Amino acid sequence: MGDDPASAVYVRNKERALEAAAMRSFDHRLPAATDQATLLALIGRLNHDPAVHGILVQLPLPRQIDTAAVLAAIAPDKDADGFHVTNAGLLAVGRPAVVPCTPLGCLMLLRHVLGPGLAGRQALVIGRSTIVGRPMAQLLLAADCTVTMAHSRTRDLAEACRHADILVAAVGRPELIRGAWIKPGAVVIDVGMNRLPPACGDSGGGRLVGDVNFAEARAVAGAITPVPGGVGPMTIACLLVNTLAAACRQTGQPVPADAMP
Ligand code: GUN
Repeated sequence: MGDDPASAVYVRNKERALEAAAMRSFDHRLPAATDQATLLALIGRLNHDPAVHGILVQLPLPRQIDTAAVLAAIAPDKDADGFHVTNAGLLAVGRPAVVPCTPLGCLMLLRHVLGPGLAGRQALVIGRSTIVGRPMAQLLLAADCTVTMAHSRTRDLAEACRHADILVAAVGRPELIRGAWIKPGAVVIDVGMNRLPPACGDSGGGRLVGDVNFAEARAVAGAITPVPGGVGPMTIACLLVNTLAAACRQTGQPVPADAMP
């Protein structure tokens, strides 16, 4: 809904991935001035449509819309993003839940480089958003990591970083995390997506950078995700995974084991 330029790019990438996976998608684009009742009525219809197994409302929504009310209107078993409070609550108490796509993708990346056993590792999550930071911390806790949460108001972020075997940065501050803060050999996942101001003489937007200073950090880290091209494609893959798992549950078929955290 609306005309957020970043959302347009994200939605296009999601549609391309769905098409490549031969998953059918239904695109509903609403003008920015649409009222909340119209949006809620659409979600209600999709909740009851047996051809639809997963629903995603791209955020941010225009100002007149109560985002929490919209997310709460999505049937929890069709909640492809895992943003419904029922799914957030299930994740928080360690029960099977639809897990938000970005942290789910981060967990898959971590297991890819570190193996399935993450028990006992020191994990630092920087950022406390409901989309990334909080569910990421819950997933790492469920994987038996020792989890610390930091955020933009943490007093000594450099000191917190020095202890982390796993560092997930999702704070939205361009290149905040310096190479010298990182424990040698740590696995660094950079969820940040920040557009720098255009350099002198450049037309258009500036460079896209993460929350970590990549050039510095890559010399110290054991593994690190680039921005762009690291976490973003993994997030989209996890959206397909969540939708496939939802379709299996709704049609009484077994959910593939690797679709679950
Ligand atoms: N806006 C930014 N990230 C996301 C996401 O993961 N899902 C949705 N629905 N909107 C977003």
